[in-house]
Amino acid sequence: MLFSGKALSVQMLDNGIAELKFDLEGESVNKFNRLTVSEFSDALDAIEKAGDIKGLLLTSGKNVFIVGADITEFGGAFSAGPEGIAELMNKNNDNINRLEDLPFPTVVAINGFALGGGFEVCLGCDFRVMGDQAKVGLPEVKLGLIPGWGGTVRLPRVVGVDVAAEWIAAGKEQRPDAALTAHAVDAVVPADKLRGAALKLLERVAAGELDYQKRREIKKSPIPLNDTEALMAFFTTKAFVGQQAGRNYPSPVNAVTSIEQGYKLDRDAALKIEQEQFIASAQTETAKSLVGLFLKDQLVGKVAKGWEKKADKKIERAAVLGAGIMGGGIAYQSAYKGTPIKMKDINQDGIDLGLNEANKLLSKLVERGRMTASKMGEVLNRIEPTLSYDGFDDIDVVVEAVVENPKVKHAVLTEVEGKVSSDTVIASNTSTISIDSLAAPLSRPENFLGMHFFNPVHKMPLVEVIRGEKTSENAIARVVAYANKMGKKAIVVRDCPGFLVNRVLFPYFAGFAMLVRDGADFQQVDKVMERWGWPMGPAYLMDVVGIDTGVHAEQVMAEGFPERMGKTFTAASDVMYEAGRYGQKNGKGFYVYEQDKKGRPKKVATEESYELLKPHVADRREFENDEIIERMMVPMATELARCLEEGIVDSPAEADMALIYGIGFPPFRGGVFAWLDSIGLDNFVKIAEKYSDLGALYEPTAGMREMAASGKTYYGNK
Ligand SMILES: NC(=O)c1ccc[n+]([C@@H]2O[C@H](COP(=O)([O-])OP(=O)(O)OC[C@H]3O[C@@H](n4cnc5c(N)ncnc54)[C@H](O)[C@@H]3O)[C@@H](O)[C@H]2O)c1
Repeated sequence: MLFSGKALSVQMLDNGIAELKFDLEGESVNKFNRLTVSEFSDALDAIEKAGDIKGLLLTSGKNVFIVGADITEFGGAFSAGPEGIAELMNKNNDNINRLEDLPFPTVVAINGFALGGGFEVCLGCDFRVMGDQAKVGLPEVKLGLIPGWGGTVRLPRVVGVDVAAEWIAAGKEQRPDAALTAHAVDAVVPADKLRGAALKLLERVAAGELDYQKRREIKKSPIPLNDTEALMAFFTTKAFVGQQAGRNYPSPVNAVTSIEQGYKLDRDAALKIEQEQFIASAQTETAKSLVGLFLKDQLVGKVAKGWEKKADKKIERAAVLGAGIMGGGIAYQSAYKGTPIKMKDINQDGIDLGLNEANKLLSKLVERGRMTASKMGEVLNRIEPTLSYDGFDDIDVVVEAVVENPKVKHAVLTEVEGKVSSDTVIASNTSTISIDSLAAPLSRPENFLGMHFFNPVHKMPLVEVIRGEKTSENAIARVVAYANKMGKKAIVVRDCPGFLVNRVLFPYFAGFAMLVRDGADFQQVDKVMERWGWPMGPAYLMDVVGIDTGVHAEQVMAEGFPERMGKTFTAASDVMYEAGRYGQKNGKGFYVYEQDKKGRPKKVATEESYELLKPHVADRREFENDEIIERMMVPMATELARCLEEGIVDSPAEADMALIYGIGFPPFRGGVFAWLDSIGLDNFVKIAEKYSDLGALYEPTAGMREMAASGKTYYGNK
């Protein structure tokens, strides 16, 4: 053994070949944490000293190769400023350069994910052999960063500027076929033959059959582009990348800039440029938020896994009541992810609609080559449409998704309770009705809770799991386990009107209603909020949700929280509702919806809605962008703080993730609490006070005032 550590080891094989194996002790994956980086350096010392090595093989002892840097280490290093960031980056850059400069050839066997730093170390090798199940990629932009260990230097020298810019700016994982086509790897082989194939290749290179020096030369030299080619390549790429990413996500453009400024330089000079761009990216609020988001996402996943472990059994059979928009979507998702599901409705038309929806979604996957026709058949077979309760006695979880009417739901829930076994868990997908009130007539309320999916089910990641007063821990655990199995992000919250997400969304809509009442143009509000980062502004969002659905939910919220959400004026949504404009679903709401060339609804603003609103609103006037943002965001933020203080949600991280997964809160802001921390609570309280005449929704909570006074933050990082 040449080197033996806790993260990696190096041993001599036959014929002067050494094998460096990454295998991080006590972890399920390999990553470049400080320990690995430091041991990699020590291992290179040993390799350089050995003197009798003819070739080096890099392998992994895990199912993955290396998944990237240890993101938990970023926070500390990034807050230490440019020197701290450079310090974190330098040692591994040095390692990869040393690997690339070894006086003998190197080959890597990429057996699983090789992402970020994991792929960058592969690019430092002379030859890359990839397993047929592995994936490679440089996903740093997803964290608001750029590759910092030579990715923007070596990848364009290996695959060309265009492909490199595309891969890095999109941050996508690449499958073996794409990697091979791009010449990012030299061969793809079945997983069980990978190590043998890589070793054989290395022996051939070591024997002089293949020229590794030439490859190194290319990686270490400027890229041979003439000025016109370069101008064309970078000009168009930057414009395209900038437009795709949007102004709130600067790092994809920074990555292309790094390639552009370094292409005429040799490796070491280009690496310096990369580091400058990395540091600039790492210091943005976007990177801070996105790195924080990654950690919060992990925390939410851990909490959900913790619940799953507490479940008395695995979820093997499910059922859904109601085959409408939501029931059909739930059946599809369950079947797609492998859990057989009965889909019950009271009429055949409903069932046909539900099945059609599943069929459409699956056909699209088949058309795009992402699923075979036989797999599609298997998935459809997992959905069992039915008009009766036959076979409901061995179902693990039933999801009720019938019409949003308390009387109907009570009847359906008590009925199904009589058809299932005594331990079956029953969950309602209600969006507004209190879980405790739905549980009232049930004989086993401990087995009952809320499982609130978002529309469209296959796309929206969040499932709010709502525990009622009497819900048992096991019922929560089973439903979270089911959500996990469906590939969803489950967040457990307590019962209250609107639960968590709608409870804070409707105050935001109330902010919108007051703005329009006071003379704001709904189109201006939409534009400003979209620029702030929301996927759609509030008027457009209401149209998409459905004005009728929105008005109904507003009433529920007004009854639940009359002191803050009670109605005192005719809101713009009421005006639309009264005029029969229900939004996208019937072609007109705030906007009118026409079909674009691909048959998708396209919104157009017409005078009609302004005319309808006129009698109910003040004369139209321009609002400052900041005023719009503040008047929209203060009600949402204070209501979310109230939910945290009341224990509706357990932690700021879960609350932030719920809004990101559930309603698309701008991810680059890290969530509402992260945003509050970034502007400072004392500042927030001052902003809210400017609007105190708008009513109780603009009143910061006692907890917020206390935190503002004592300089505290939600994430405790001040
Ligand atoms: N549509 C959304 O955006 C959305 C989002 C989240 C939650 N929800 C909630 O999901 C539930 C369903 O909403 P939807 O939009 O899918 O409604 P929908 O009208 O599309 O579907 C309801 C289905 O329930 C069926 N049904 C009625 N009574 C039944 C009974 N006794 N047994 C079995 N089936 C019965 C109907 O035939 C219909 O097919 C509601 O509680 C709603 O609040 C809806």
